[in-house]
Amino acid sequence: MEWENEKIAAFRSALIDWYEANKRVLPWRENTDPYRIWVSEIMLQQTKVDTVMPYFERFMTWFPTMQDFADAPEERILKAWEGLGYYSRVRNLQAAMKVVVAEHNGVVPSDLEGILALKGVGPYTAGAVLSIAYERAEPAVDGNVMRVISRVLEIDDDIMKQKTRKKFEAALYDLIDPEKPGEFNQGLMEIGALVCTPKKPMCLVCPLQEFCEAHQVGKEEEYPVKIKKTKVKKVFLTSAIVQTGSDQFVIEQRSDTGLLANLWQFPTVDQLENREAMKLAFLQQYGLELELGAEPITHVKHIFSHLVWEVEVFVAQAITAQPSELKLKTVTKAEMEQLAFPVPYQKMWQAFQKGETVQ
Ligand code: ADE
Ligand code: SF4
Repeated sequence: MEWENEKIAAFRSALIDWYEANKRVLPWRENTDPYRIWVSEIMLQQTKVDTVMPYFERFMTWFPTMQDFADAPEERILKAWEGLGYYSRVRNLQAAMKVVVAEHNGVVPSDLEGILALKGVGPYTAGAVLSIAYERAEPAVDGNVMRVISRVLEIDDDIMKQKTRKKFEAALYDLIDPEKPGEFNQGLMEIGALVCTPKKPMCLVCPLQEFCEAHQVGKEEEYPVKIKKTKVKKVFLTSAIVQTGSDQFVIEQRSDTGLLANLWQFPTVDQLENREAMKLAFLQQYGLELELGAEPITHVKHIFSHLVWEVEVFVAQAITAQPSELKLKTVTKAEMEQLAFPVPYQKMWQAFQKGETVQ
């Protein structure tokens, strides 16, 4: 963080003054009971504030204290969560609160290590509870906060990456107001929810405008950087290691364009449900009439940058000893080892040889 101390102090007061004047009245803001804060933060991780409010109110009527919640039967806690989704969260919450009741005298740990040891409590929940309930200067980095801070500081790391969160945390350890960390964190959350929205942020009314580097260069909508995961396509294939003699194997050269151009491989067809269909495919595609082994000898998975191969591998004897297809070639092991095979075919060959030596 290259900001001077005065600038950091000005940032803190701009944020906290705005928060105090503009914060929404929300049921979990009535007091700083760690139990209530913790429950609210778990609910808010999956759902919007408006949806959470009635759930939160009912939850507190049903389970006014942590002891009530820890003692409740599972059916009841699931009912309280019904419609919120992610039911493992409420189970984890109860498991964690049982531990707090049994091992911490019912007092939520007020240190990072202690609270992170509880089930379902990650860095975000830990930071939120510690700062809001205990005024500990811990950052609470969620999606909203990353959006605001990525714009203010022009942080262009991919927020989908796990390690990027650490970068935001590091920046926030410098920025966070040690006097009012709870208001500081909630101020960032509130700006993220109400002002610094994903599309068309309201920079003109934003209290952070004069500090905001992305706004100053008109690039606020270019942050945060989120590199979309291209959906990897799955390709299911069946390969056959075809023997025509004790040291004679049938291989094929891939086409001279496209993926793995010109490399060598074992005859391969699209995966089909049954062996008869598979035999027919080898016959049609290669003119190979095969006696396939009863079971695949191995399955090979190989991840390319944009697709995944899942290959089942059979051993086979060729009934027609002379394959008709010109692109096929019959080679000895020694000859094969001089040719280039893509990694998934190397894996198949290794599996085949291992099987051979075991036999
Ligand atoms: N989102 C996550 N935590 C929140 C909080 N404490 N108040 C409002 N929105 C939130
Ligand atoms: Fe977000 Fe605009 Fe405020 Fe910057 S000035 S924090 S982009 S709303």
